[in-house]
Parts: sequence; C-alpha cells; structure tokens
Amino acid sequence: MYLNAELLPAEKALVSVFDHGFSYGDGLFETILVVGRHPVFLAAHLERLAAGARILRLELPWSGEQLAAAVQETVAAAALGSGYLRLTVTRGAGEGWRLAACREPTLLIVPYDHIPYPAEDYAQGFAAAISRWRRNHHSPLAQVKSLNYLENILAKDEALALGAQEAILLNLEGRVAEGAMSNVFVIGDGYLVTPPPQEGPLPGITRRYVLELASRVGLTAAERPVAPGELVGAPEAFLTSSLMGIMPLTFLEGRPVGTGRPGPLTRRLARVYQEAIGSEGGW
Ligand SMILES: Cc1ncc(COP(=O)(O)O)c(C=O)c1O
Repeated sequence: MYLNAELLPAEKALVSVFDHGFSYGDGLFETILVVGRHPVFLAAHLERLAAGARILRLELPWSGEQLAAAVQETVAAAALGSGYLRLTVTRGAGEGWRLAACREPTLLIVPYDHIPYPAEDYAQGFAAAISRWRRNHHSPLAQVKSLNYLENILAKDEALALGAQEAILLNLEGRVAEGAMSNVFVIGDGYLVTPPPQEGPLPGITRRYVLELASRVGLTAAERPVAPGELVGAPEAFLTSSLMGIMPLTFLEGRPVGTGRPGPLTRRLARVYQEAIGSEGGW
C-alpha cells in the first residue's frame, strides 16, 4: 500500500496516534473502482477530494497529477487488475483540536483485489429499510465524503439487522436524501429522478454518470426532491455507488418495489453502464 510517498507492506504502514483522522474523523476518502488496471473516474474522484478539502479547510500539498501518479503507482505495485482502491487523506498529526496544529496531511492508498458485491446481489436486487436517523441536509459534511462516516455505518448496520442490505436516509424535511452508502434513483414513466445535492445526498460520481447515460435507454433524467411515497410506489428504483455500479432496489420496508424483481429499464441501464465503464473507461 501507499503511505506518504512510500510503498509499504501493511505491517509497516503506520500512522501517528496524534493524527486528526484518528482523533476527530478529520479527513476525506474516496473509493475508486479498478477495471482492467484502470482506476475508473479517477479525475472525478480527485476533483471531489479537492472540493471536500476546500470545505474542510484542509490545504492539500499534492497536485491532482501527483495524486493520480500515486494511484497509478499503487495499482502497478499491487498488480491490481480488477478491484478497488481506498484513498484516504487526513489532516495529519497535531496536538489538540486546532486545525493549524496539523502541518503535514497523511495520504494512504490501499488496494483491494475483489469487489464486495456478488452477481446474486444484482440478480435479486437489494432490500432497503428507511433509517430512523435523518441526514442533516444543511450540514457542510453532507456534501463531503469525510471520515465522519459512523452515521452511515450505524444506519447500514441497523438495516442489515432488519434483513435489508441498505438503509435509506431521509433528510430533515422527511424527503429522500440517499442510501447509507449509495445514491437513490427512481424510474417513472419515461423518466429517471434522483434528489438534487441540496436535499442532502453525497454528490456521487456514479450518480452523475448515470444521469448522463439515462438518455441512452430513452429516459429523461432529472434532479428533484423525492418523497418516500414516490420511492415506495415506483415501478423501478435502484442504488448507485462506485463499487456497486447500478444495484436494483427491489424491496423497501418489506414491500416490493414494482414487481419485487430487478426492472427491465434498470437492467438495461446497468448493461449500458457496465459497457461504458469497460470500454470508454467512464469519462
Ligand atoms: C453516503 C454515500 N452516498 C453516495 C455514495 C455513492 O458515491 P460514488 O458513486 O461516488 O461512489 C457513497 C459511496 O460510497 C456514499 O458513501
């Protein structure tokens, strides 16, 4: 793995106990899919990282080119054909809470040689439970893929305990924000909708790409608020993330979405998506 400009085995990759990532969840991460040694949507991931750093008032000492080179170096060193990378940036080590105490951000890139979603998941689709926790869509962190991820993990863990595979988070107004680790889409009659950023979702990179691909399967894409009732009553719905790609959402709160099977448009869109990231490498 890559840690602060060095390629190291896991047992030698050590981070300071004073690191603000450890003390305060003060940092950012990106989960990047790798297909055929190609880090998919790398530029978009690095752009979101830079945007998140600006929100956290964290000055990154690396250019986009240097980060991209570090990613490529990690892929090459691990001979990573297919799998994913987790890139983590923290504010670095410093005493106390003051941001200025941290002078050297930490950069860690860990390669994984598998994808944690088997083919059966796509064949069945995911069941989701609506979380009792709300996404604060006014929080600056709603827009940031930050190391403050415990709310998402708690929501997901509660959903798993209920026999579902994903949690849906509503925002403070009771409208759909996103999944605990995914964005949410609803397919209606000729259209595809997902909540806009001001409703509280993370600006997902897969989400953005899927909005662009919609027209290839004859759907008009829109970003607008989504009420939970619209999701429950939708003929088709799906979730997106870098690792999942497009995951059919087939049950919500124990009730079928549409027929309770992955819908035809979702399956077509998933095929178009797979082909696009395989052949065009995304953008
Ligand atoms: C909270 C949350 N929303 C949405 C997503 C999807 O984002 P992306 O498509 O950029 O992976 C993720 C990804 O893990 C996430 O953690």
